[in-house]
Amino acid sequence: MMRRLGPGKLVIASHNQGKVREIAELLGPYGIEPVSAAALDLPEPEETGTSFVDNADLKARLAADLSGLPALADDSGLCVDALEGRPGIHSARWAGPDRDFRIGMERIWEEVLAKGPEAGRDAHFVCALAVAWPNDGQCENFEGRVYGQLVWPPRGEKGFGYDPMFQPIGHQQTFGEMDPAEKHAMSHRAEAFRKLVADLVQ
Ligand code: IMP
Repeated sequence: MMRRLGPGKLVIASHNQGKVREIAELLGPYGIEPVSAAALDLPEPEETGTSFVDNADLKARLAADLSGLPALADDSGLCVDALEGRPGIHSARWAGPDRDFRIGMERIWEEVLAKGPEAGRDAHFVCALAVAWPNDGQCENFEGRVYGQLVWPPRGEKGFGYDPMFQPIGHQQTFGEMDPAEKHAMSHRAEAFRKLVADLVQ
């Protein structure tokens, strides 16, 4: 039997204020009160895992153990089929030290072109979520994905990260061109959160 997340505090193991706000909006209606890792002065661990789930787990476990509260972490990225799944867990790093995603997008496109004319354009975003409870090491994982194609040149200013070069299957717009509400209804993150809410809080 899976443990449930009751009303009360939940540490969001992220120093990204945007993420913390989004999660607060999503889980607030269930009586869950998100507290950011930054507000508790928790350290940001090195992401040493070899998969999205590993990285989400290690962030959630550390935050739960240090705070004594349940904690939620996420890890996400873009996987390109022609590049055997890269940049994957290194998606943020491919954008360089200044996190300039034009650089990250150009690197992806150059590497895909270098694979030759037969290389496909298929790609997917992945989001892994982990919820950990303090002391006993229990941790639950949820994964969401959205499949699509890479496009070049990148289009749209509305999203972030690799959104301008990703066009989900069945749509003519990239994630960068879509209204945020439309993207959020179909994104990898939305799918992972739907699973989390269904299993842990509903
Ligand atoms: P992290 O999960 O915060 O470590 O960062 C993952 C990286 O993957 C981000 O910096 C983005 O580059 C990329 N990424 C994850 N989700 C999305 C998305 O919805 N759109 C565009 N890029 C994304």
